[in-house]
Amino acid sequence: RDKLKGKSFLTLKDFSKEEIRYILDTAHKLKADRKDGIYHQLFKGLSLAMIFEKPSTRTRCAFETAFGEEGGHPVFLSVNDIQLGKKESIEDTARVLGRMFDAIEFRGFKQETVNSLATHSGVPVFNGLTDLYHPTQILADLMTVEEHLGTLEGKTLVYAGDGRNNMAHSLMIGCAKMGVNITIISPSSLAPNEDVLNYSIEEANKSNSFVKVTEDMNEGLKGADVVYTDVWVSMGEEEQSKDRISLLQPYQINNNSLKLTNNSEVIFMHCLPAVRGLEVTNEVIEGSNSVVWDEAENRKHSIKAIMFALI
Ligand code: CP
Ligand code: NVA
Repeated sequence: RDKLKGKSFLTLKDFSKEEIRYILDTAHKLKADRKDGIYHQLFKGLSLAMIFEKPSTRTRCAFETAFGEEGGHPVFLSVNDIQLGKKESIEDTARVLGRMFDAIEFRGFKQETVNSLATHSGVPVFNGLTDLYHPTQILADLMTVEEHLGTLEGKTLVYAGDGRNNMAHSLMIGCAKMGVNITIISPSSLAPNEDVLNYSIEEANKSNSFVKVTEDMNEGLKGADVVYTDVWVSMGEEEQSKDRISLLQPYQINNNSLKLTNNSEVIFMHCLPAVRGLEVTNEVIEGSNSVVWDEAENRKHSIKAIMFALI
């Protein structure tokens, strides 16, 4: 924890396998403690600014309740209510918030914005989702895989859909670091960002796992331990809805996709919110392989662990 203290959580690239392991172990412990009614006042006397340019249910509620129930004071700041980016620059906003708060959470469009908040505020900044990455989600996802499948190393996670969005990118980095094989199935026009792909391949080589990108559902799904999908139209891309929905139709996760894994114990995951009938059928998300509600709950425990480690 000494090494992590004061760091920002902007992308999983900035964290080693051991550091991610420490945060995951802490998350499991904090979850168990909470079930036993044990709280630690981890954030007593501290305050957290939470800036949202885009809407959120899980991320906002996870940060806000995790910080509050451990004695901290979270303050929700929608961009409609503050000067950020309109009357005041990101840099100046960061400087002011850094004088008043012990940490800042940011959800929005550009990765550059969250990076800039970290550079200029002088306090730890947490990326609650940008167009490029969604790193806190991956901690909840890895935690959920451990709960259901025991271990991470050697498991294979197959993600189907938009291979170029924040979820695909952060899953690639997180899985590659932790020794989880990852296959991205997407049309070539939505294949992952090249830099993220190359970085993930290097990390996978170090952890003895693989990163694979394919357009073929039959080939990609075979042998999956985890089948993962995300919305076809991410926040901010609404004008592309029609094209996306027709392009991604073949990548829907349905009962047949689960059969293609040849693994009756396969678990289905989705960061949520989900559009039933598009990226996943109602049968799958409500079916016995689905662990999406545990995954959603784990946002809270893993975010609590991230904040404990870094603030
Ligand atoms: N998974 C996730 O980030 O959900 P929200 O958009 O509701 O925060
Ligand atoms: N890719 C989705 C993730 C939502 C948690 C989006 O950015 O809208």
